[in-house]
Amino acid sequence: MMKLYVVFAGLLSHAVALDNGLALTPPMGWLTWQRFRCITDCQLYPNECISEDLIKRTANIMLSEGYLEAGYNYVGIDDCWLEKKRDKNDRLVPDRERFPNGMKAIGDFLHKKGFKFALYQDYGNKTCAGYPGVLGYEEIDVESFADWDVDYIKLDGCNVDISKMDTGYPYFGKLMNESGRPMVYSCSWPAYQKEPDYASIAKHCNLWRNWDDIQDSWSSLSTIMTWFAENQDTIAQYAGSGKWNDPDMLIIGNYGLSIDQAKVQMAIWSILAAPLFMSVDLATIRPEFKEILLNQDIIAIDQDVLGKQGLRVWNKSQCEIWRRELFDGSYAVAFVNKRDDGTPYLIKASFDAMSIPTNIYEVQDLYNEDEDFSFGPHGNFTTRVNPSGVKYYKFIPMKLNELSQEKFYYVSGI
Ligand SMILES: *[C@@H]1O[C@H](CO)[C@@H](O)[C@H](O)[C@H]1NC(C)=O
Ligand SMILES: *[C@@H]1O[C@H](CO)[C@@H](O)[C@H](O)[C@H]1NC(C)=O
Ligand SMILES: *[C@@H]1O[C@H](CO)[C@@H](O)[C@H](O)[C@H]1NC(C)=O
Ligand SMILES: *[C@@H]1O[C@H](CO)[C@@H](O)[C@H](O)[C@H]1NC(C)=O
Repeated sequence: MMKLYVVFAGLLSHAVALDNGLALTPPMGWLTWQRFRCITDCQLYPNECISEDLIKRTANIMLSEGYLEAGYNYVGIDDCWLEKKRDKNDRLVPDRERFPNGMKAIGDFLHKKGFKFALYQDYGNKTCAGYPGVLGYEEIDVESFADWDVDYIKLDGCNVDISKMDTGYPYFGKLMNESGRPMVYSCSWPAYQKEPDYASIAKHCNLWRNWDDIQDSWSSLSTIMTWFAENQDTIAQYAGSGKWNDPDMLIIGNYGLSIDQAKVQMAIWSILAAPLFMSVDLATIRPEFKEILLNQDIIAIDQDVLGKQGLRVWNKSQCEIWRRELFDGSYAVAFVNKRDDGTPYLIKASFDAMSIPTNIYEVQDLYNEDEDFSFGPHGNFTTRVNPSGVKYYKFIPMKLNELSQEKFYYVSGI
Protein backbone atom coordinates (compact mmCIF):
# COMPACT_ATOMS: atom_id res chain seq x y z
CA MET A 1 0.00 0.00 0.00
CA MET A 2 2.78 2.42 0.90
CA LYS A 3 4.42 1.99 -2.51
CA LEU A 4 1.23 2.94 -4.30
CA TYR A 5 1.06 6.16 -2.29
CA VAL A 6 4.55 7.12 -3.37
CA VAL A 7 3.89 6.43 -7.04
CA PHE A 8 0.70 8.40 -6.82
CA ALA A 9 2.44 11.40 -5.23
CA GLY A 10 5.13 11.24 -7.89
CA LEU A 11 2.57 11.51 -10.67
CA LEU A 12 1.13 14.68 -9.24
CA SER A 13 4.28 16.58 -8.44
CA HIS A 14 5.27 18.50 -11.55
CA ALA A 15 6.85 21.70 -10.26
CA VAL A 16 10.53 21.92 -9.45
CA ALA A 17 11.54 21.18 -5.87
CA LEU A 18 14.84 20.80 -4.08
CA ASP A 19 16.14 17.43 -5.23
CA ASN A 20 17.32 15.90 -1.96
CA GLY A 21 14.57 13.34 -1.50
CA LEU A 22 13.49 14.89 1.81
CA ALA A 23 10.33 16.40 3.30
CA LEU A 24 8.12 14.62 0.77
CA THR A 25 5.33 15.35 3.24
CA PRO A 26 5.51 18.32 5.65
CA PRO A 27 8.19 17.64 8.27
CA MET A 28 7.04 17.05 11.85
CA GLY A 29 8.82 17.28 15.14
CA TRP A 30 9.64 19.42 18.12
CA LEU A 31 11.66 22.62 18.28
CA THR A 32 12.90 24.62 21.26
CA TRP A 33 12.20 28.22 20.24
CA GLN A 34 8.60 29.19 20.91
CA ARG A 35 8.46 27.73 24.43
CA PHE A 36 12.09 27.86 25.56
CA ARG A 37 13.43 30.83 23.59
CA CYS A 38 16.91 31.78 24.72
CA ILE A 39 16.90 30.48 28.29
CA THR A 40 20.56 29.81 29.00
CA ASP A 41 20.69 29.92 32.80
CA CYS A 42 20.58 26.28 33.85
CA GLN A 43 21.06 27.08 37.56
CA LEU A 44 17.91 29.15 37.70
CA TYR A 45 15.91 27.17 35.13
CA PRO A 46 17.29 23.64 35.05
CA ASN A 47 14.26 22.22 33.23
CA GLU A 48 13.99 24.94 30.65
CA CYS A 49 17.49 25.97 29.57
CA ILE A 50 18.60 25.10 26.03
CA SER A 51 20.76 22.09 26.81
CA GLU A 52 21.59 18.48 26.17
CA ASP A 53 19.36 17.67 29.11
CA LEU A 54 16.29 19.30 27.59
CA ILE A 55 16.84 17.54 24.27
CA LYS A 56 17.31 14.13 25.86
CA ARG A 57 14.39 14.50 28.23
CA THR A 58 12.11 15.62 25.40
CA ALA A 59 13.19 12.84 23.03
CA ASN A 60 12.61 10.25 25.74
CA ILE A 61 9.08 11.53 26.29
CA MET A 62 8.41 11.69 22.56
CA LEU A 63 9.42 8.08 22.30
CA SER A 64 7.58 6.75 25.36
CA GLU A 65 4.38 8.76 24.96
CA GLY A 66 3.59 8.14 21.30
CA TYR A 67 4.75 11.36 19.65
CA LEU A 68 7.40 9.65 17.53
CA GLU A 69 4.94 6.98 16.52
CA ALA A 70 2.45 9.68 15.52
CA GLY A 71 5.04 11.11 13.11
CA TYR A 72 6.90 13.77 15.12
CA ASN A 73 10.39 12.56 14.27
CA TYR A 74 12.62 15.65 14.12
CA VAL A 75 13.99 16.98 17.40
CA GLY A 76 15.37 20.45 16.96
CA ILE A 77 17.56 22.94 18.77
CA ASP A 78 16.78 26.51 17.78
CA ASP A 79 18.92 29.58 18.59
CA CYS A 80 21.19 29.92 21.66
CA TRP A 81 23.15 26.67 21.50
CA LEU A 82 26.53 28.24 20.75
CA GLU A 83 29.52 29.71 22.49
CA LYS A 84 29.82 33.41 21.67
CA LYS A 85 33.13 32.82 19.87
CA ARG A 86 34.35 30.39 17.22
CA ASP A 87 37.43 28.32 18.11
CA LYS A 88 40.92 29.06 16.79
CA ASN A 89 40.17 27.08 13.62
CA ASP A 90 37.03 29.15 13.06
CA ARG A 91 34.77 26.24 13.97
CA LEU A 92 31.45 26.80 15.68
CA VAL A 93 31.56 25.64 19.29
CA PRO A 94 28.42 24.43 21.08
CA ASP A 95 28.02 25.95 24.55
CA ARG A 96 30.52 24.03 26.69
CA GLU A 97 28.37 23.86 29.79
CA ARG A 98 25.00 23.20 28.29
CA PHE A 99 26.23 20.81 25.59
CA PRO A 100 29.22 19.26 27.39
CA ASN A 101 29.47 16.35 24.95
CA GLY A 102 29.10 18.41 21.80
CA MET A 103 26.64 18.08 18.97
CA LYS A 104 27.75 14.76 17.52
CA ALA A 105 26.67 13.18 20.82
CA ILE A 106 23.23 14.74 20.45
CA GLY A 107 22.96 13.41 16.90
CA ASP A 108 24.00 9.93 18.04
CA PHE A 109 21.56 9.95 20.92
CA LEU A 110 18.65 11.01 18.72
CA HIS A 111 19.47 8.58 15.93
CA LYS A 112 19.72 5.67 18.32
CA LYS A 113 16.18 6.40 19.49
CA GLY A 114 14.82 6.68 15.96
CA PHE A 115 14.72 10.48 15.71
CA LYS A 116 16.31 12.93 13.33
CA PHE A 117 18.41 15.89 14.41
CA ALA A 118 17.41 19.47 13.52
CA LEU A 119 19.64 22.46 14.22
CA TYR A 120 19.34 26.23 13.86
CA GLN A 121 21.76 28.68 12.34
CA ASP A 122 21.55 32.07 10.66
CA TYR A 123 22.71 33.31 7.30
CA GLY A 124 24.02 36.57 8.80
CA ASN A 125 27.07 37.65 10.78
CA LYS A 126 25.18 36.79 13.91
CA THR A 127 22.10 34.75 14.79
CA CYS A 128 19.00 36.63 15.88
CA ALA A 129 20.03 36.18 19.52
CA GLY A 130 23.59 37.39 18.84
CA TYR A 131 25.58 34.18 18.53
CA PRO A 132 28.01 33.63 15.63
CA GLY A 133 26.23 33.25 12.26
CA VAL A 134 27.46 31.45 9.16
CA LEU A 135 28.21 34.44 6.92
CA GLY A 136 31.81 34.20 5.76
CA TYR A 137 32.15 30.69 7.21
CA GLU A 138 29.57 28.83 5.13
CA GLU A 139 31.82 25.99 3.96
CA ILE A 140 33.36 25.21 7.31
CA ASP A 141 29.95 25.35 9.03
CA VAL A 142 28.26 22.98 6.60
CA GLU A 143 31.19 20.66 7.21
CA SER A 144 30.52 20.83 10.96
CA PHE A 145 26.80 20.09 10.48
CA ALA A 146 27.62 17.07 8.34
CA ASP A 147 30.24 15.91 10.88
CA TRP A 148 27.65 16.12 13.64
CA ASP A 149 25.15 14.07 11.60
CA VAL A 150 22.61 16.86 11.46
CA ASP A 151 19.52 16.01 9.39
CA TYR A 152 17.82 19.38 9.15
CA ILE A 153 19.06 22.97 9.09
CA LYS A 154 16.85 25.93 9.91
CA LEU A 155 18.67 28.95 8.48
CA ASP A 156 17.38 32.25 9.86
CA GLY A 157 17.95 35.66 8.28
CA CYS A 158 18.99 38.14 10.98
CA ASN A 159 22.03 40.40 10.60
CA VAL A 160 22.53 40.13 6.88
CA ASP A 161 21.69 42.38 3.91
CA ILE A 162 18.31 41.31 2.58
CA SER A 163 19.63 41.77 -0.96
CA LYS A 164 22.22 39.05 -0.30
CA MET A 165 19.60 36.40 0.41
CA ASP A 166 18.57 35.65 -3.18
CA THR A 167 22.03 34.31 -3.91
CA GLY A 168 23.14 33.45 -0.38
CA TYR A 169 20.43 30.94 0.48
CA PRO A 170 20.92 28.97 -2.78
CA TYR A 171 24.69 29.05 -2.21
CA PHE A 172 24.35 27.63 1.27
CA GLY A 173 22.00 24.97 -0.11
CA LYS A 174 24.56 24.06 -2.73
CA LEU A 175 27.15 23.54 0.01
CA MET A 176 24.69 21.39 1.94
CA ASN A 177 24.19 19.29 -1.17
CA GLU A 178 27.93 18.98 -1.77
CA SER A 179 28.47 17.78 1.78
CA GLY A 180 26.86 14.53 0.62
CA ARG A 181 24.67 14.39 3.72
CA PRO A 182 20.95 14.74 2.96
CA MET A 183 19.69 17.56 5.19
CA VAL A 184 16.29 19.21 5.14
CA TYR A 185 16.73 22.89 4.31
CA SER A 186 14.40 25.25 6.17
CA CYS A 187 14.83 28.83 4.96
CA SER A 188 13.67 32.01 6.69
CA TRP A 189 14.49 33.87 3.45
CA PRO A 190 10.99 35.09 2.43
CA ALA A 191 10.09 36.18 5.96
CA TYR A 192 12.57 39.04 5.61
CA GLN A 193 11.58 40.18 2.11
CA LYS A 194 8.74 42.31 0.72
CA GLU A 195 8.37 40.50 -2.59
CA PRO A 196 10.01 37.11 -2.24
CA ASP A 197 10.96 35.18 -5.37
CA TYR A 198 8.94 32.11 -4.42
CA ALA A 199 9.83 30.19 -7.57
CA SER A 200 13.48 30.34 -6.57
CA ILE A 201 12.76 29.71 -2.89
CA ALA A 202 10.70 26.60 -3.69
CA LYS A 203 13.49 25.32 -5.89
CA HIS A 204 16.18 25.76 -3.25
CA CYS A 205 14.46 25.05 0.07
CA ASN A 206 12.35 22.22 1.50
CA LEU A 207 10.33 24.64 3.58
CA TRP A 208 10.36 28.34 4.23
CA ARG A 209 9.04 30.71 6.86
CA ASN A 210 6.85 33.17 4.98
CA TRP A 211 6.08 35.71 7.63
CA ASP A 212 6.22 36.82 11.27
CA ASP A 213 7.22 34.57 14.15
CA ILE A 214 4.34 33.08 16.06
CA GLN A 215 3.90 34.28 19.65
CA ASP A 216 2.03 32.55 22.44
CA SER A 217 -1.41 34.10 21.87
CA TRP A 218 -4.69 33.80 20.01
CA SER A 219 -4.12 37.21 18.43
CA SER A 220 -0.81 36.06 16.98
CA LEU A 221 -2.34 32.82 15.68
CA SER A 222 -5.32 34.69 14.30
CA THR A 223 -3.12 37.24 12.50
CA ILE A 224 -1.02 34.50 10.92
CA MET A 225 -4.19 32.82 9.65
CA THR A 226 -5.31 36.11 8.11
CA TRP A 227 -1.92 36.61 6.45
CA PHE A 228 -1.97 33.12 4.96
CA ALA A 229 -5.52 33.65 3.69
CA GLU A 230 -4.81 37.03 2.17
CA ASN A 231 -1.65 35.79 0.47
CA GLN A 232 -2.88 32.35 -0.56
CA ASP A 233 -3.17 33.29 -4.24
CA THR A 234 0.54 34.02 -4.27
CA ILE A 235 1.96 31.30 -2.05
CA ALA A 236 -0.23 28.18 -2.14
CA GLN A 237 0.85 27.20 -5.66
CA TYR A 238 4.45 26.70 -4.50
CA ALA A 239 3.61 24.10 -1.87
CA GLY A 240 4.01 20.45 -2.75
CA SER A 241 6.08 17.37 -2.12
CA GLY A 242 9.49 18.49 -0.86
CA LYS A 243 8.55 22.19 -0.62
CA TRP A 244 6.27 23.73 1.98
CA ASN A 245 5.07 27.10 3.22
CA ASP A 246 5.71 27.33 6.95
CA PRO A 247 3.36 29.37 9.17
CA ASP A 248 5.68 28.57 12.14
CA MET A 249 5.56 26.34 15.21
CA LEU A 250 2.56 24.86 16.98
CA ILE A 251 1.98 26.73 20.25
CA ILE A 252 -0.52 24.12 21.47
CA GLY A 253 -0.13 23.24 25.15
CA ASN A 254 1.55 26.47 26.24
CA TYR A 255 0.06 29.46 28.09
CA GLY A 256 -1.73 31.45 25.41
CA LEU A 257 -4.37 29.24 23.79
CA SER A 258 -7.58 27.77 25.14
CA ILE A 259 -8.47 24.22 24.12
CA ASP A 260 -10.79 25.54 21.42
CA GLN A 261 -8.09 27.84 20.08
CA ALA A 262 -5.54 25.02 20.10
CA LYS A 263 -7.96 22.98 17.99
CA VAL A 264 -8.10 25.87 15.53
CA GLN A 265 -4.34 25.86 15.12
CA MET A 266 -4.10 22.11 14.57
CA ALA A 267 -6.97 22.21 12.04
CA ILE A 268 -5.72 25.17 10.03
CA TRP A 269 -2.09 23.98 10.02
CA SER A 270 -3.25 20.67 8.58
CA ILE A 271 -5.32 22.48 5.93
CA LEU A 272 -2.23 24.53 5.06
CA ALA A 273 -0.06 21.40 4.67
CA ALA A 274 2.16 23.08 7.25
CA PRO A 275 5.22 21.59 8.89
CA LEU A 276 4.12 20.47 12.38
CA PHE A 277 6.73 21.45 14.93
CA MET A 278 5.54 21.38 18.52
CA SER A 279 7.25 23.79 20.89
CA VAL A 280 6.01 22.93 24.34
CA ASP A 281 7.22 21.32 27.54
CA LEU A 282 6.14 17.74 26.95
CA ALA A 283 6.89 16.85 30.57
CA THR A 284 4.10 19.09 31.84
CA ILE A 285 1.64 19.40 28.94
CA ARG A 286 -2.00 18.90 29.91
CA PRO A 287 -3.62 15.77 28.48
CA GLU A 288 -6.32 17.70 26.56
CA PHE A 289 -3.62 19.47 24.56
CA LYS A 290 -1.59 16.33 24.09
CA GLU A 291 -4.66 14.68 22.62
CA ILE A 292 -4.96 17.48 20.04
CA LEU A 293 -1.31 17.12 19.03
CA LEU A 294 -1.71 13.36 18.68
CA ASN A 295 -4.95 13.43 16.65
CA GLN A 296 -4.12 10.82 13.99
CA ASP A 297 -6.90 11.79 11.60
CA ILE A 298 -5.76 15.40 11.51
CA ILE A 299 -2.10 14.45 11.20
CA ALA A 300 -3.09 12.26 8.24
CA ILE A 301 -4.66 15.28 6.56
CA ASP A 302 -1.54 17.36 7.16
CA GLN A 303 0.55 14.56 5.67
CA ASP A 304 -1.78 13.86 2.74
CA VAL A 305 0.31 12.71 -0.22
CA LEU A 306 -1.41 14.95 -2.73
CA GLY A 307 0.55 17.69 -0.97
CA LYS A 308 -1.87 20.37 -2.04
CA GLN A 309 -2.11 23.35 0.31
CA GLY A 310 -5.68 24.20 1.29
CA LEU A 311 -7.30 27.62 1.13
CA ARG A 312 -9.62 29.87 3.03
CA VAL A 313 -12.60 29.65 0.70
CA TRP A 314 -15.18 31.77 2.53
CA ASN A 315 -15.36 34.45 5.20
CA LYS A 316 -18.30 36.37 6.50
CA SER A 317 -19.34 37.89 9.82
CA GLN A 318 -15.94 36.94 11.29
CA CYS A 319 -16.47 33.30 10.42
CA GLU A 320 -14.31 31.44 7.95
CA ILE A 321 -14.34 28.22 5.97
CA TRP A 322 -11.03 26.58 5.06
CA ARG A 323 -10.88 23.65 2.65
CA ARG A 324 -8.21 21.23 1.50
CA GLU A 325 -8.41 18.63 -1.27
CA LEU A 326 -7.05 15.20 -0.38
CA PHE A 327 -5.49 12.52 -2.56
CA ASP A 328 -8.46 10.16 -2.40
CA GLY A 329 -11.02 12.72 -3.55
CA SER A 330 -12.10 13.67 -0.02
CA TYR A 331 -12.04 17.16 1.43
CA ALA A 332 -11.00 18.49 4.80
CA VAL A 333 -13.25 21.41 5.73
CA ALA A 334 -12.74 23.62 8.79
CA PHE A 335 -15.34 26.07 10.06
CA VAL A 336 -13.69 28.72 12.22
CA ASN A 337 -15.52 31.19 14.42
CA LYS A 338 -13.40 34.27 15.14
CA ARG A 339 -16.23 36.05 16.91
CA ASP A 340 -16.15 36.76 20.61
CA ASP A 341 -19.85 36.68 21.43
CA GLY A 342 -20.44 34.19 24.20
CA THR A 343 -22.50 31.54 22.44
CA PRO A 344 -21.56 29.09 19.71
CA TYR A 345 -22.31 30.58 16.30
CA LEU A 346 -24.41 28.81 13.70
CA ILE A 347 -22.65 28.68 10.34
CA LYS A 348 -24.75 27.72 7.32
CA ALA A 349 -22.82 26.85 4.20
CA SER A 350 -23.72 25.85 0.68
CA PHE A 351 -21.50 23.52 -1.37
CA ASP A 352 -20.32 26.66 -3.11
CA ALA A 353 -19.32 28.31 0.16
CA MET A 354 -17.40 25.18 1.15
CA SER A 355 -15.96 25.01 -2.36
CA ILE A 356 -16.61 21.29 -2.73
CA PRO A 357 -18.54 19.54 -5.52
CA THR A 358 -22.24 18.90 -4.99
CA ASN A 359 -22.42 15.28 -3.94
CA ILE A 360 -23.46 12.91 -1.18
CA TYR A 361 -20.80 12.76 1.48
CA GLU A 362 -20.03 10.74 4.52
CA VAL A 363 -18.98 13.37 7.05
CA GLN A 364 -16.50 12.58 9.80
CA ASP A 365 -15.96 14.96 12.70
CA LEU A 366 -12.18 15.05 13.02
CA TYR A 367 -12.35 16.03 16.69
CA ASN A 368 -14.91 13.30 17.35
CA GLU A 369 -17.50 15.61 18.86
CA ASP A 370 -20.26 14.36 16.52
CA GLU A 371 -21.01 10.88 15.22
CA ASP A 372 -20.37 10.33 11.50
CA PHE A 373 -23.31 11.36 9.36
CA SER A 374 -24.16 11.80 5.72
CA PHE A 375 -24.83 15.06 3.93
CA GLY A 376 -26.00 16.15 0.47
CA PRO A 377 -26.66 16.52 -2.35
CA HIS A 378 -29.32 19.10 -1.29
CA GLY A 379 -29.44 21.78 1.37
CA ASN A 380 -26.95 23.78 3.33
CA PHE A 381 -24.45 22.34 5.74
CA THR A 382 -24.97 23.76 9.21
CA THR A 383 -22.68 23.55 12.19
CA ARG A 384 -22.42 25.36 15.50
CA VAL A 385 -18.94 26.64 16.33
CA ASN A 386 -17.64 27.85 19.69
CA PRO A 387 -16.22 31.39 19.99
CA SER A 388 -12.56 31.33 18.81
CA GLY A 389 -13.14 27.69 17.99
CA VAL A 390 -13.44 25.30 15.10
CA LYS A 391 -15.51 22.44 13.75
CA TYR A 392 -13.39 20.26 11.55
CA TYR A 393 -14.80 17.64 9.20
CA LYS A 394 -13.66 15.26 6.52
CA PHE A 395 -16.12 15.04 3.61
CA ILE A 396 -15.81 11.66 1.90
CA PRO A 397 -17.76 11.34 -1.36
CA MET A 398 -20.07 8.33 -1.01
CA LYS A 399 -19.38 7.08 -4.50
CA LEU A 400 -15.65 6.90 -3.93
CA ASN A 401 -16.21 5.26 -0.60
CA GLU A 402 -18.09 2.42 -2.24
CA LEU A 403 -15.24 1.53 -4.60
CA SER A 404 -12.59 -0.89 -3.45
CA GLN A 405 -9.19 0.64 -2.71
CA GLU A 406 -7.55 -1.21 -5.60
CA LYS A 407 -10.09 -0.01 -8.10
CA PHE A 408 -9.81 3.49 -6.82
CA TYR A 409 -6.05 3.67 -7.26
CA TYR A 410 -6.49 2.39 -10.78
CA VAL A 411 -9.05 5.03 -11.64
CA SER A 412 -6.99 7.84 -10.11
CA GLY A 413 -3.75 6.80 -11.72
CA ILE A 414 -5.00 7.37 -15.25
C1 LIG B 1 29.16 41.42 8.54
O1 LIG B 1 30.53 41.45 8.79
C2 LIG B 1 31.28 41.98 7.71
C3 LIG B 1 32.74 41.77 8.02
O2 LIG B 1 33.06 42.14 9.34
C4 LIG B 1 30.92 43.45 7.53
O3 LIG B 1 31.63 43.99 6.46
C5 LIG B 1 29.44 43.53 7.24
O4 LIG B 1 29.03 44.88 7.19
C6 LIG B 1 28.64 42.81 8.31
N1 LIG B 1 27.27 42.75 7.87
C7 LIG B 1 26.24 43.04 8.64
C8 LIG B 1 24.88 42.96 8.02
O5 LIG B 1 26.37 43.32 9.82
C1 LIG C 1 22.45 16.82 -4.51
O1 LIG C 1 21.77 17.22 -5.70
C2 LIG C 1 21.67 16.18 -6.65
C3 LIG C 1 21.12 16.74 -7.95
O2 LIG C 1 20.13 17.65 -7.74
C4 LIG C 1 20.80 15.09 -6.06
O3 LIG C 1 20.65 14.01 -6.97
C5 LIG C 1 21.44 14.59 -4.78
O4 LIG C 1 20.61 13.62 -4.17
C6 LIG C 1 21.69 15.73 -3.82
N1 LIG C 1 22.42 15.25 -2.68
C7 LIG C 1 22.17 15.65 -1.41
C8 LIG C 1 23.03 15.07 -0.36
O5 LIG C 1 21.31 16.44 -1.12
C1 LIG D 1 -12.62 38.59 5.03
O1 LIG D 1 -11.40 38.64 5.73
C2 LIG D 1 -10.62 39.77 5.53
C3 LIG D 1 -9.39 39.61 6.34
O2 LIG D 1 -8.64 38.59 5.80
C4 LIG D 1 -11.36 41.04 5.89
O3 LIG D 1 -10.59 42.17 5.57
C5 LIG D 1 -12.66 41.08 5.15
O4 LIG D 1 -13.39 42.19 5.56
C6 LIG D 1 -13.44 39.82 5.38
N1 LIG D 1 -14.64 39.85 4.63
C7 LIG D 1 -15.81 39.66 5.20
C8 LIG D 1 -17.00 39.71 4.29
O5 LIG D 1 -15.94 39.47 6.37
C1 LIG E 1 -29.17 27.71 1.67
O1 LIG E 1 -28.81 28.99 2.14
C2 LIG E 1 -29.04 30.02 1.22
C3 LIG E 1 -28.45 31.27 1.77
O2 LIG E 1 -28.80 31.46 3.11
C4 LIG E 1 -30.55 30.11 0.95
O3 LIG E 1 -30.81 31.12 0.00
C5 LIG E 1 -31.05 28.78 0.44
O4 LIG E 1 -32.47 28.82 0.30
C6 LIG E 1 -30.66 27.66 1.36
N1 LIG E 1 -31.01 26.41 0.74
C7 LIG E 1 -31.66 25.44 1.36
C8 LIG E 1 -31.99 24.23 0.56
O5 LIG E 1 -31.98 25.53 2.53
